[in-house]
Amino acid sequence: MNTPIIIAIDGYAGCGKSTTAKAVAQHLNYIYIDTGAMYRAVTLFFLNHHVNLEQPSEIQNALAQLQISFVYNPSSQKSDAYLNGKNVENEIRKMYISQKVSEVSRIAAVRHAMVAQQQQMGKKKGIVMDGRDIGTVVFPEADLKIFMQTDVSIRAKRRQAELKKQGEEIEIETILENLKKRDLIDTSREEGPLLKAQDALILDSSNISIEEQTQYVIRLAEQKIKEYSSI
Ligand code: DC
Repeated sequence: MNTPIIIAIDGYAGCGKSTTAKAVAQHLNYIYIDTGAMYRAVTLFFLNHHVNLEQPSEIQNALAQLQISFVYNPSSQKSDAYLNGKNVENEIRKMYISQKVSEVSRIAAVRHAMVAQQQQMGKKKGIVMDGRDIGTVVFPEADLKIFMQTDVSIRAKRRQAELKKQGEEIEIETILENLKKRDLIDTSREEGPLLKAQDALILDSSNISIEEQTQYVIRLAEQKIKEYSSI
């Protein structure tokens, strides 16, 4: 039997991490967890409940009330994020959530709660997880670590096309500004900053297609699995 592994994919906002991670998981028949969706769901809950981000007790209270899960959706062939039993997959992708999510995800208490859940989800291995701190904090012992980067103007164009598909027409400058702001907050926060793990492989997707970047990660994963299975 093949030994299941943990694949960590980290990188900047809008590099195509989720698309790649999802395709790799599907190919390997692994579980895929989009940790960005978890932080987005927390942000939605905090906004809906007017949680004051300066009040630690309000934050703790809110965290104790929210439950995030992923449920496979056969029609889209991907997992949708659920918040307290409600499908929030479309809502959490909207621009007003993107504009608030980095501020919420820099809060230590939020990170501790999410990291604990993510570690639980990966206990049995056979998982592909994407985010910012997967190879450094969530699974420092991950078997394969990829760090993705892409030129920011290319990321902005891709994100604009994605939002358009979902019915949101946003100007390129607004998206560019949002990506740059998120990159800055994500890389400079104290707790779990976006950082390349020492043993992560850099994947620059500026000049390659999603298909090529996916194939690259699949090849690396299959090599690792083969290596482990022959021990
Ligand atoms: O992957 P994404 O762009 O949907 O993530 C949304 C935000 O969530 C991102 O700007 C920072 C935060 N995030 C995080 O802090 N840690 C993670 N592991 C994943 C996402």
